[in-house]
Amino acid sequence: MTEYLCFFNKDAFVIKGPKKSPLLLRLVVVAFAMVCGIYICSICIKQISPHTTAKFLNIRIFDQPCNSSNVEEWEKPYVHYPKPETFSREECACNPVRFFAIFSMQRSGSGWFETLLNSHVNVSSNGEIFGKRERRASVSAITQTLDRVYNLDWFSSASKNECNAAVGFKWMLNQGVMEHHEGIAEYFKQKGVHAIFLFRRNLLRRMISVLANSYDKRNKPLNGTHKSHVHSSIEKLKEVQDFLRLPYRELTSRQVKIHSGHLSKQVQNWDEIHKVLKGTQYESFLHLDYQR
Ligand SMILES: *[C@@H]1O[C@H](CO)[C@@H](O)[C@H](O)[C@H]1NC(C)=O
Ligand SMILES: *[C@@H]1O[C@H](CO)[C@@H](O)[C@H](O)[C@H]1NC(C)=O
Ligand SMILES: *[C@@H]1O[C@H](CO)[C@@H](O)[C@H](O)[C@H]1NC(C)=O
Repeated sequence: MTEYLCFFNKDAFVIKGPKKSPLLLRLVVVAFAMVCGIYICSICIKQISPHTTAKFLNIRIFDQPCNSSNVEEWEKPYVHYPKPETFSREECACNPVRFFAIFSMQRSGSGWFETLLNSHVNVSSNGEIFGKRERRASVSAITQTLDRVYNLDWFSSASKNECNAAVGFKWMLNQGVMEHHEGIAEYFKQKGVHAIFLFRRNLLRRMISVLANSYDKRNKPLNGTHKSHVHSSIEKLKEVQDFLRLPYRELTSRQVKIHSGHLSKQVQNWDEIHKVLKGTQYESFLHLDYQR
């Protein structure tokens, strides 16, 4: 066998084979050549294959841009057609989506407001996403989080996914809004985010609500339904739906309002408060009781 191989190496370029070579030798040579060929081929394929598969993966179907001719010109900066990475919007891919953020303070009825808004089939409001400190550590952390929310890649119990017409979340003013307001304003301007400010008109009511709530927490933990200290305002809800250009729906919330009724019925030392505020710029808070 070694003999034959040596012979093969030395005379590799001699085309005519030795006359007396038996059939077996020829077969061996052919087999050897075949094995070599297959080996070389397999190496070549291995080297090429990552590139070819990458090329195949890069082929994407280019979607037709959505027809936005029924969106008014001034509105175009506020209308988006997100392409989420985590799912396909399918038949709603060309439903325009508006971005929003609800700014509020604790005990201002924002929880109640958000559940109402979320009862709309086309709205996803994802709650207090900036409750976690690391998400609001810097402007870039904030914008990353916002990008995910507005690309519909954020998942919460409120996410409706495919047929969203408005997506947003609730942002408490003490959750990085004041520290990073410039970067946030810039982002909102760029992306055309709708900002909804929700403030309790009656500051006195808000303060009493804060006190009442902490009193409740200590004394009678509430089971089951979460309760809010809020009075409803149907007209405002209609305004918000108009603002976000939503198809109009009756909105409902299962949250129950507590501590309703006039403040004087709830506050033991009401006379004292009355005396302090009377004649000051805050006097109206004594009377104002959630009429429009
Ligand atoms: C977009 O839709 C309108 C009707 O809403 C139609 O008249 C127009 O031709 C469409 N444009 C394109 C580019 O498909
Ligand atoms: C609202 O949601 C419904 C049901 O998912 C869908 O059929 C409809 O197209 C959506 N409307 C808008 C304006 O996105
Ligand atoms: C809350 O629910 C738990 C179990 O469901 C019950 O044991 C407890 O007594 C309830 N507390 C109040 C204040 O109702």
